[in-house]
Amino acid sequence: MENIIKIRNLSKNYGTVKALDNVTLSVPKGSIFGYLGPNGAGKTTTLKILMGLLQYSNGSVEIFENEVKKNPVAVNRRIGFLPDAEMPRNDSIYRFLNLTGKLHKIKNKEERISEVLVQIGLKKLSNRKIGTLSKGQKQRVGIANALMVDPQLLILDEPNNGLDPIARVRVLTLLKDLVKNGKTVLLSSHIIGEVDKIATDIAIIHRGRIVEQGKRKNLVKRYLNHGKYVIAGKLDIDQVMRSLEYITSCQQDHLERYIISTTGNVTEEQLLIDLIQKANSKIQYFSSAEISLEDLFIETINGQLKEGDYA
Ligand SMILES: Nc1ncnc2c1ncn2[C@@H]1O[C@H](COP(=O)(O)OP(=O)(O)OP(=O)(O)O)[C@@H](O)[C@H]1O
Ligand SMILES: [Mg+2]
Repeated sequence: MENIIKIRNLSKNYGTVKALDNVTLSVPKGSIFGYLGPNGAGKTTTLKILMGLLQYSNGSVEIFENEVKKNPVAVNRRIGFLPDAEMPRNDSIYRFLNLTGKLHKIKNKEERISEVLVQIGLKKLSNRKIGTLSKGQKQRVGIANALMVDPQLLILDEPNNGLDPIARVRVLTLLKDLVKNGKTVLLSSHIIGEVDKIATDIAIIHRGRIVEQGKRKNLVKRYLNHGKYVIAGKLDIDQVMRSLEYITSCQQDHLERYIISTTGNVTEEQLLIDLIQKANSKIQYFSSAEISLEDLFIETINGQLKEGDYA
């Protein structure tokens, strides 16, 4: 499949901070690409480089087969961008979008402003100053602004930031519709559950390096021989952990149920139940849970954590 974005061996340093370390990434046309990573992983840095807003030391970055370094302006006209940045406080929503319309010489500017405001549910507030809006409302203005150019490619840095559940569903549905109509969406996030619902492709970045990349369905499939079980009852958990070496983690949830993750070949539920029963335990409830993108994310990142990462 054709790739709209091609990043090869990209490195970026801020002084002595190595923000991106040999990043290679391809975003297929027509995908909803979830760019995931913990705080400070390098997501915003990557997106700013794509938008031509940051210089980089090594590598190549192409969008629509244009090298970003050589031709940033031509490229941007086909891209809608939601930055992770402050917005002009003193402009009204209308004035802000109007300016974007002028900058990009959008035909039927008025109609377009009206259209995006309806799409994002802000029509009634169009004359309000941006500085007086709530966090989630501001975020929606940012998304409306990114949509103004009717872009082929949307690049959104943490679009769900500050949105309430209804606004989030609305935005996710909007993104799905855009992709149905032939657009491509690249969005960064650390709210994995949300991305899980819509992403077709995923990359996980950690400390400036890509640690996972591929089709969502293939990535999750790779982890299917890893089991995840929810168990309630009296469990001698230390003994269970000792006797079952393929259990990778066991945590209790808010209902005091045990959430057990396993790896390796033993995925037979009955075998697990037998083993737990042998280990002096009484099970009242047992079910297997679906592996989510969040599990994949945590497993991948945990495997790579170093002492001091969250110090
Ligand atoms: N202007 C800067 N000067 C120095 N270091 C910077 C600068 N901008 C970012 N960094 C560092 O580069 C690394 C990557 O930052 P980046 O903002 O790309 O992370 P992120 O994945 O977007 O994180 P978050 O989820 O918190 O938004 C971090 O270690 C950060 O501290
Ligand atoms: Mg960021």
